[in-house]
Order: sequence, then structure tokens, then C-alpha cells
Amino acid sequence: MLNKRIESAINDQINAEIWSAYLYLSMSAWFEGQNLPGFANWMKVQWQEEVSHAMKFFDYVHERGGKVTLQPIAGVKTDWKDLVEVFDETLTHERHVTSLINNLVNIAIEEKDHATNNMLQWYVSEQVEEEANAEAILEELKMIGGHGHGILMIDREMRGRSFVDETQAAE
Ligand SMILES: [Fe+2]
Repeated sequence: MLNKRIESAINDQINAEIWSAYLYLSMSAWFEGQNLPGFANWMKVQWQEEVSHAMKFFDYVHERGGKVTLQPIAGVKTDWKDLVEVFDETLTHERHVTSLINNLVNIAIEEKDHATNNMLQWYVSEQVEEEANAEAILEELKMIGGHGHGILMIDREMRGRSFVDETQAAE
């Protein structure tokens, strides 16, 4: 049986993951408006990834006999100044999510819940990847410095990204 403190912290994290999904979907919509289908696709995949993160927690709570309580999803930003701002905010957001995951690990350790701690280690590794991906694109965009040709080249590359459910492969 899942301890109530952990159950409540995971429920908050489900909301945070869904909110992340919502943010990336909003960014995808913004890229559609900029006529950058590759970037829009990349963000749509990001949205799918975040939904899968939420679902991994959702399934875990049920597996442990807990109760999932879905909370309201806060609004997201819908406009950005430029591409650098989008990826700057993506990186800042992923760093914030990393701190949320680390905090969950701390709670699991305090509550001596080794199973939850073990499950969370998947997210610890995933966050390293999330931060690295956002940072790499941000650095590329900074290097290009708003040049149309470079942006179109990255956009073409980003068209090829497709969703792979890594939460399933890990089990
Ligand atoms: Fe996530």
C-alpha cells in the first residue's frame, strides 16, 4: 500500500507532467504558426513523451493500490518572442522538473519507500536526457543567431523525430 504522503506527492507530479505536456503542445502550435513544421513536430513528440511520463506515474499509483486524483491543469503561455526564447524556457522548465523529481526521491528516502525510489530512478536518468536535448538545441539556435537558412536546416532535421515510448521499454 502506498503511503499517503507519497501518494499525494506523485499525484502532484502527475499534474506537473500533464502541465509539461500542455506547455509543449502550446509551443508546437506556436511553431505551426511560424511555418516551422519540423519544430512543431519535435514539440508534439515532446508532448507525447510528457503524457507517457504522467501515465507511468498513473499506472504506478494503481499498481501499489493507491488512488490517482487528477487536479486542474493551469494555463500555459501561447506566444514567444523567438526560437531562442522557446528553447530557453524549455531548458529552464526541464531543470525545474529535475528539481521536482529530486524532491520526490528525497520524500521516498525519508519514507523508506525503496520501491518508489527505484521507480523514480528512471525519471532521474530521463531528466539528464531532457536537459541535454533542450540545451543542445538552444546552443545550436544561439550559434545560428536567427539566420533563416540555419533555422530551416534544423527544422528539416526535426521533422524526422518520432515518438518512442521509453516508459514501456524500461519495464
Ligand atoms: Fe517529464
